[in-house]
Amino acid sequence: MLEELKKIAAEVKAELVKIKNSDELRDLEVKILGRKGELTTILRQLKDLTSEERQKIGKLANEVKADLAAEFGAIRSRVEGHKQSAKIDLTLPGKAFERGHLHPISQVQYRLEDFFTSLGFIIEDGPELESEYYNFEALNIPANHPARDIQDTFFINEDKKGDPTNRLLLRTQTSPVQIRAMRQYGAPLRVVVPGRCFRYEATDVRHEHTFDQLEGLMVDREITITHLKAVLEAVAHELYGSGTKVRLRPKFYPFVEPGFNGEVSCFLCHGDGCRLCKQSGWLEIFGAGLVHPNVLLAGGLDPKEYSGFAFGFGLNRLVMLQYGIDDIRLFQSGDLRFLEQF
Ligand code: DAH
Repeated sequence: MLEELKKIAAEVKAELVKIKNSDELRDLEVKILGRKGELTTILRQLKDLTSEERQKIGKLANEVKADLAAEFGAIRSRVEGHKQSAKIDLTLPGKAFERGHLHPISQVQYRLEDFFTSLGFIIEDGPELESEYYNFEALNIPANHPARDIQDTFFINEDKKGDPTNRLLLRTQTSPVQIRAMRQYGAPLRVVVPGRCFRYEATDVRHEHTFDQLEGLMVDREITITHLKAVLEAVAHELYGSGTKVRLRPKFYPFVEPGFNGEVSCFLCHGDGCRLCKQSGWLEIFGAGLVHPNVLLAGGLDPKEYSGFAFGFGLNRLVMLQYGIDDIRLFQSGDLRFLEQF
């Protein structure tokens, strides 16, 4: 009887592994543990044994029964769990996860960072809360220059103990990082500075208090306008295709001499004249020029030894031209109907 018990236990375990569904499981359970089941039959014979044998075999039989009951339970939860998961209809369309994406300004910024990195420029950051000295004075913008006017600049409330000629302000341009970079790295230097700028503006479709610029600076021995034009052309080709032309027209900026208004041939009409370029065939993109000697001095460099070019442009304007966006305020609006289009 002992042998029979062990045999049944082993057989049942071997069968259980093969069970695929609850019908098969029920059949096996009836066959073994049912009223006329194999194990039940053996247990029933216990009463014919001597009390000594009954004690010994009975104990084992009960263990086998409990063991098998547990095994059945485990298999049942496997096949019934299986049955439940089979109810999932894999052909139903899935629920899409909502994924965000980069803001259009970030997209163009990262693209330009990659591009300038490929030309050997480093990417620098500067403080948005800047000193009057770096934002204006060091850039050859004297104290009475209109750009410093309270109309244009967010000044931070003065600390009475602080230096009244060097107040803190929200930077109005990325150009102060030219000075910071020259002081930190010296020359030769190739650097671009993307970043947020702020102006105290009455906002309208073309003016916003917060916007993004990208500044460029290259300083070395014997840097000329030729170098500037070549780099601006490379940028224009990257942005608008290899047929794009660049022209430089004189314009005053205090931190460069000579200074230029850098224009690219219109990517929409290729120079014929259209609404985008206001029939001129050209789009104003860059401010640029050769770094003013006073700016090199403020950066700790000798203008007799070094020269350089600088340029700056608004990232908002690039994106607006590209997509025909007619209101600069949309960038800061957080309006998903706008943002989801990019
Ligand atoms: N900082 C100028 C602005 O905000 C743009 C600019 C013009 C930057 C000429 C330059 C430059 O580096 O050379 O309007």
